[in-house]
Amino acid sequence: MTRHFLRDDDLSPLEQAEILDLALELKKDRNRVSPLAGPKTVAVIFDKSSTRTRVSFAVGIADLGGIPLIISTANSQLGGKESPSDTARVLERQVAAIVWRTYAQSGLEEMADGTTVPVINALSDDFHPCQLLADLLTIREHSGELAGLTLTFVGDGADNMVHSYLLAGATAGMHVRIACPDGYRPMDAVVADAEAIAEKTGGSITIYSDPVQAVAGVDVVVTDTWVSMGKEEEKEQRLLDLGRYRVDADLMALAKPEALFLHCLPADRGYEVTAEVIDGPQSVIWDEAENRLHAQKALMVWLLRQK
Ligand code: CP
Ligand code: NVA
Repeated sequence: MTRHFLRDDDLSPLEQAEILDLALELKKDRNRVSPLAGPKTVAVIFDKSSTRTRVSFAVGIADLGGIPLIISTANSQLGGKESPSDTARVLERQVAAIVWRTYAQSGLEEMADGTTVPVINALSDDFHPCQLLADLLTIREHSGELAGLTLTFVGDGADNMVHSYLLAGATAGMHVRIACPDGYRPMDAVVADAEAIAEKTGGSITIYSDPVQAVAGVDVVVTDTWVSMGKEEEKEQRLLDLGRYRVDADLMALAKPEALFLHCLPADRGYEVTAEVIDGPQSVIWDEAENRLHAQKALMVWLLRQK
């Protein structure tokens, strides 16, 4: 049966670990496997802007022997004139996989439903699971094993990265803490799903309103933009509401001395994080950005093997 990667918990703990192991191997030897030799084509569709996702999928598909077909919905029939499901029927006869950055998670579900090639979520309003594979890879490289580590996200608790940290962190057996104001809390259903996973893996989920309490003694501190794509009209209100949730040197000093700082980027220095922290010695953001390439290659190799 065709496997898709629409949200982080589409992978079991064992499968997630297998993909991270493979990513480390591919990082050492970029051209070790060529499942897209032929060359086969992978469609990479963007409804929203992107730098890292566009580049890392294009380079990764080429590394695997294939050809990336980058499609912008602005000049395709998808996104208005044609449904995700009809688009999938057309694409699946010609491409080896479909990668899609979009708004509604339901669109991805429709794209994947009954489709014979893997569909990969390259960011939706609800999740950013490819980024999480890169983040977990980065934490593993710098801190060793993931299980048992405590990670705190500070900021907009309702954003796609938070939902992915909850699910992917729980899958990895991590203790995931979210520090956010009321009105910016993660979706209840995702918290419940993450708690159910954490119960099996030995991880845990805790939501805080106080960032100081949430960061005390943790291994990893993460944040993300206060104004995600699609939320631009709320910018002014968000800057007011989230002002107390900035990661600065004082907050970072409450974590373990060797704690890592991660940010999926792009960042707004001076808003969700100060320049001192994001450009400081604990920040691993450039490894994190590079690891998008290795993690997504491993994901594609793994998904193509399941067919
Ligand atoms: N982190 C991330 O997904 O970056 P882009 O929006 O540049 O792809
Ligand atoms: N939460 C951000 C992530 C960008 C990679 C957004 O959706 O804009």
